[in-house]
Amino acid sequence: MRKFLSVVLTGVLALSMLAGCSQKDVEKAAEQLPSQAAEAAKEIASQAAEAGEAIASAAGDVIKDVESAENSAFNKDTLVVGTNAEFPPFEYVGADGNPDGFDIALMKAMGEYLGKKIEVQNMQFDSLIASIGNKIDIAIAGMTVTEERKQSVDFSDSYYDAVQSVIVPKDSAIKTADDLKNLTIGVQLGTTGDFMVADIEGATASQYNKGVDAVNDLLNGRVDCVIIDKNPAQVFVSLHHDELVAIEGTELGFEAEHYAIAMPKGDAYLVEMINGALAALKADGTYDELVKKYIEAQ
Ligand code: ARG
Repeated sequence: MRKFLSVVLTGVLALSMLAGCSQKDVEKAAEQLPSQAAEAAKEIASQAAEAGEAIASAAGDVIKDVESAENSAFNKDTLVVGTNAEFPPFEYVGADGNPDGFDIALMKAMGEYLGKKIEVQNMQFDSLIASIGNKIDIAIAGMTVTEERKQSVDFSDSYYDAVQSVIVPKDSAIKTADDLKNLTIGVQLGTTGDFMVADIEGATASQYNKGVDAVNDLLNGRVDCVIIDKNPAQVFVSLHHDELVAIEGTELGFEAEHYAIAMPKGDAYLVEMINGALAALKADGTYDELVKKYIEAQ
């Protein structure tokens, strides 16, 4: 370094003499040289460190991806899918006694796309989340993505938009969200409709394991109305159209909800595979066909 500097100095000196600089100027410039060299060295070192960090973090990501793929529930031949077949048209018990509906058909199509067998397990809606990662691998149940649920599970991309509806007797005075105050409201236990009632001033939730039981109690006059998702509300009302009507939540200022498939927390590989299948079935028209068959024909 010393030798290098003295060579540079002599060079600078000679050049500046030629250029007509004073000895003082040259000395000043020379003084700055070591500090400039140090700055340059520091800059190079910090760039190298940054590059090193980027490489290390990219390698870390690859390792995480590999580990996630190795430990993923996706490696099983059969995916056990939990549902609650009390939620037409998304899931209900079909004529052959097995769960059927939009969600079930979508899940089976995804299984076919992914080369996985799908085994459907019907259970109570409010047991689904706790069963993910033990009794079941994933859950599809017209389940709304909520911040609270996200603490326990990971969700796929959303596959359907919904909103709560209010089912009321035909002659009911309920017309606005304000009219729900202080009422007894039938809901399915552990659903977003159930959570909503907790926020309505003075209202009491009558909780049922099945939405249809809440509707029956509305027909019997045991509850004032039922809060349940829009599509099941339409199905239930269509079975009793002389007595009941459904007010769609959008007219009452309720928030939009988004259905997604729930999976164990942290199984990034499974989420990636499921989202990939969902996107593929949307792209190839299968999704639209199922919407037509199960939802629009309801
Ligand atoms: N979307 C509502 C929720 O996530 C209700 C879902 C009920 N689903 C069912 N299969 N019973 O809470």
